[in-house]
Amino acid sequence: MPSARPLVVSGMRPTGRLHLGHLHGALANWVKLQEENDCYYFSADWHALTTSYDRTEDIKKAEREMFVDFIAAGIDPQKSTLFVQSQVKEHAELYLLLGMITPLGWLERSPSYKEMRENITDRELALYGFLGYPVLMTADIILYKATRVPVGADQVSHLELCREIARRFNFQYGNVFPEPQPLLTEAAKVVGTDGRKMSKSYGNSIELGESAESTAKKVMGAVTDPARKLRKDPGNPDVCGIFYLHKIYSAPADVAWVDQNCRTAGIGCVDCKKKLLEKLGPDQERMRARREALLARPGEVEELVQLGTQKARAAAARTMEEVRAAMKL
Ligand code: TRP
Ligand code: SF4
Repeated sequence: MPSARPLVVSGMRPTGRLHLGHLHGALANWVKLQEENDCYYFSADWHALTTSYDRTEDIKKAEREMFVDFIAAGIDPQKSTLFVQSQVKEHAELYLLLGMITPLGWLERSPSYKEMRENITDRELALYGFLGYPVLMTADIILYKATRVPVGADQVSHLELCREIARRFNFQYGNVFPEPQPLLTEAAKVVGTDGRKMSKSYGNSIELGESAESTAKKVMGAVTDPARKLRKDPGNPDVCGIFYLHKIYSAPADVAWVDQNCRTAGIGCVDCKKKLLEKLGPDQERMRARREALLARPGEVEELVQLGTQKARAAAARTMEEVRAAMKL
């Protein structure tokens, strides 16, 4: 039954194991949201195809890893509905119908579309499916009549398009869809061990649920303020990835302690990193234990996702009945 709590939808493309950038950029927020909203979180496996139709063999495995990480990070399948986009065919039906009312110009003018077409040269992107990415994303969201969509800043233009398409539908066929708002994740900044944005493709990431030992190895080897060459040189925490992690993991008093003592060379980077690991290590171990417990019970994650998918299907089917009625189909 539809409930009175706000409806949240968000998805992630299945790319395999998640890292601390995913955790603090999105997932931690998803976990919080499940307390006061009805949350639908899904694997956007069709979206993965829009940029790599030729690499389908890894998708299912990556998806399983991703769901394990969702749960290890604290998504509770009893509270949130976990599902797979491609298993709820209504996404495709609504995508097709929305395609009929979406002007090409809206899609061609989309900033992320233009940027990717200009900058990505090693992959074929002159594809209908790639142009339609935001239409599929719109279907994902409004199919559940979501009003709140937690996304990163890079997705905000897609959300704007989503609202425009929903508005156009409502204008043409009658009010079916609410206009969803982005919930901008106060993106805790996470940089990788080399000081660049944390990304699997840079090989600079710390994975969610890595052992304390392996986390420590990466942290101890990580780049800090590049201007701080010697122990006696004062540093600038604002350009240091370790400091960003302190802001996420450490108590305010410890963050203040780092901030001050870095600037005055009161501590060295080794002290600073050890302090971080006091919190980061156990946190990683906690997630590692949850991952292991899940992995030790084969079929359990699949079953939870299966149940979520059934629930998503029921909700999607209700909306599509309204859509077909509104469109006189
Ligand atoms: N485009 C999103 C991303 O790359 C993933 C996504 C697909 C999504 N459909 C969505 C996010 C619907 C929120 C709502 O991160
Ligand atoms: Fe970074 Fe800490 Fe070293 Fe300062 S002391 S540069 S915050 S690791």
